Amino acid sequence: MNNRASLLNGFSKLTREEKLEVIGGLFDNSDEAIEGFKSFEHPDEVIQEMISEFSENSISNFHLPYSVAPNFMINGKPYVVPMVIEESSVVAAASNAAKFWFSRGGFHAEIVDTQKVGQVHFIWKDDKETLIQRFDELKHYLISGTEDITENMRKRGGGVLDIELKDFSDQEEGLMQLFVTFETKDSMGANFVNSCLERFADLFKRWYASQSEFSGEGLEIVMCILSNLTPNCMVKCWVECEVKEFDNLVPGTDGADFARRFRTAVRIAQIDPYRATTHNKGIYNGIDAVVLASGNDFRAVEACGHAYASMNGGYSSLTDCQIDGDKFTFTLHLPIALGVVGGLTNLHPLVKLSMAMLGNPDARELMGIAAAAGLANNFGAVKSLVTTGIQQGHMKMHLFNIMKQLDVCNSEKDRVVEYFKDRSVSVSGVRKFVEELRMVQDAGCMNI
Ligand code: MEV
Repeated sequence: MNNRASLLNGFSKLTREEKLEVIGGLFDNSDEAIEGFKSFEHPDEVIQEMISEFSENSISNFHLPYSVAPNFMINGKPYVVPMVIEESSVVAAASNAAKFWFSRGGFHAEIVDTQKVGQVHFIWKDDKETLIQRFDELKHYLISGTEDITENMRKRGGGVLDIELKDFSDQEEGLMQLFVTFETKDSMGANFVNSCLERFADLFKRWYASQSEFSGEGLEIVMCILSNLTPNCMVKCWVECEVKEFDNLVPGTDGADFARRFRTAVRIAQIDPYRATTHNKGIYNGIDAVVLASGNDFRAVEACGHAYASMNGGYSSLTDCQIDGDKFTFTLHLPIALGVVGGLTNLHPLVKLSMAMLGNPDARELMGIAAAAGLANNFGAVKSLVTTGIQQGHMKMHLFNIMKQLDVCNSEKDRVVEYFKDRSVSVSGVRKFVEELRMVQDAGCMNI
């Protein structure tokens, strides 16, 4: 495709067909490109229309595998966990770890709290002492002035929890903030939080203008927005067993030695941000897959976790490992704001199926499930890293991608899989084996 893109005025106003025509025109072979985009449309028009409406300017659908990881035991309850992810080894790693822990007490999950945060950022150029003195009155005015917005949430046990006044004027002249905490129960709550904040800003301006102690010229609202950093929306998830349970986890391993090496690997991620980043990425392999399958916002979830991982001043591991005598404990502490109502949850047909597969959990239960998937993936990754190395498992899964890339036909797949069962996999190795196979077989179904 040549670079034929130019300023496209009014593109969003075009129909989907018209958009496809325009985009097709950017390709050397527009008909083929348009057909390619159309071939991923859902055959059911109603479903297609609904999916298209999730985003502006959609011209096709982007498919990812919808997988399941069976054998998760979480707080004594078995689950098959839906996972949407493109990386070939993630679901295998989660499933293996889940099965290992299933008969060893499973995953334990505790919801520490579920608070959400929002902020009204403002510049204050008036009498600060008076604002501080009158703040309780202002707070009451703000909370009662949003009762119409918070009514339903309050009926569900949520609402505005508190409003604090924060002062950042030592870093930026006049900069202050209303720091608001919310309980949003089963919804992630983004729209609820932002609506309350924008109302607070209006009410704050009105209150300020009506107070004779102030000049009337000293309040500027800069912006109102939720914060994705929710350190009080927290799940703790852990697994535990005696170290001897790890005997022969990988053939030939001594359990105590495995536990020691595993703990050292976690320590490295606690000490070194380079390792911590990859370690935590492995945790989010599992979490994001569940977050996507449950129609939640994986960008928010990741941003929150990574910010939390840096809250002690340096970026560090989200998991911790302790060995106390013979007892091994592996724990994940994670802030994660998830919803089971609102957003995509009630719309996307596959999200509805995910929720049903999980037994229609509430938000707290879903937090535990996502955390268990994260801990399972972290366990699987660190286990491989300190034993066989990561490539063995990765490349085994990648073998199927390589075979696809090399157009290996069905009749030869079994031979390839068998051959690479205990050999290391590489693109060149697979290519060579397939070429040799073809020479012996003198059969021509490959194109490599
Ligand atoms: C790959 O997606 C994730 C790992 O790199 C995680 C880790 O190194 O812990 C295997």
